[in-house]
Amino acid sequence: MQPTSDSLHLGNYLGALTQWVALQESYDALYCVVDLHALTVSPDPAVLRDRTRRTAAQYLAAGVDPARSILFVQSHVPEHAELAWILSCHTGFGEAGRMTQFKDKSGRYGAEGTTVGLFTYPVLMAADILLYDTALVPVGEDQRQHLELTRDLAQRLNARFGAGTAIVPEAHIVRATAKIYDLQEPTAKMSKSSANPNGIIELLDDPKVVAKRIRSAVTDAEREIRFDPEAKPGIANLLTIYSALTNRDVPTLEAEYAGRGYGDLKKDLAEVVVDFLRPFQERANAYLADPAALDDVLADGAERAQDLAGATLERIYDRTGL
Ligand code: ADP
Ligand code: NA
Repeated sequence: MQPTSDSLHLGNYLGALTQWVALQESYDALYCVVDLHALTVSPDPAVLRDRTRRTAAQYLAAGVDPARSILFVQSHVPEHAELAWILSCHTGFGEAGRMTQFKDKSGRYGAEGTTVGLFTYPVLMAADILLYDTALVPVGEDQRQHLELTRDLAQRLNARFGAGTAIVPEAHIVRATAKIYDLQEPTAKMSKSSANPNGIIELLDDPKVVAKRIRSAVTDAEREIRFDPEAKPGIANLLTIYSALTNRDVPTLEAEYAGRGYGDLKKDLAEVVVDFLRPFQERANAYLADPAALDDVLADGAERAQDLAGATLERIYDRTGL
């Protein structure tokens, strides 16, 4: 994830972080805070540095375990930028221009904000993946096209420089991943760029504020608590969050709330979310209060990442004639 906000939100947690934590059980995993990517939004230097640490602290608070996985900051491993250059020399200009995320972002950023870095963003992402001879990439739908580009680049290198130059990665899509919607506009996904702050649950927000946001979530004019994302997106979203945080399935929750009011559901859910947030925030704040310990974790992760990245880059340099 890019370190582009002070706090991650509940959608990031339920849609990505919990999945990453679970993947540690069965895979050798690498998790990275992509600060080089964040330069595409021209952040203030002090803010970027702070958000990089905050993002790493939240990965750790969520359960990314540096004893089992490699947790690091992208810019600490310069091989990312080096491989990105090589890959950019194998990416068609038109090919990069067809990336829908680039078209979307450049439309929003305008001529001034649309840098060459924004254009080559997916090439850097391909480097992030190919540097580790990665087999599987846990990605959401929104990153599908970028992963396809990564696969095309790997195949291109192999065709040009010989089999085994790059490992062609596969998408690892977990169907069960919850998609969380905005509390105020429950047909739009919860996002850091949401217009209304009351629609978001930030992981580092004051629990009292969070409880209030849940109690004032937009629902509908009926009274029935039932999971119907089409007709009742607000209630469906609250049930999704409830289910994901308690590991109780939605039908069980529907039965429990049969005949009860929306107010009851919101009040109970607010408690569930606050009970999750308090220990999460304690863990995150412990890391943020001890910068030296956090730096040690990240330095160790960078060293382990660089061992792998250095070997891959050497192979690719060698094959490409560098
Ligand atoms: P944002 O939309 O807030 O900018 P990102 O695009 O940085 O979030 O997403 C980071 C990760 O969190 C991705 O893996 C993405 O799929 C996941 N994610 C983001 N928003 C949600 C959401 N509302 N529900 C589920 N997963 C989400
Ligand atoms: Na996004």
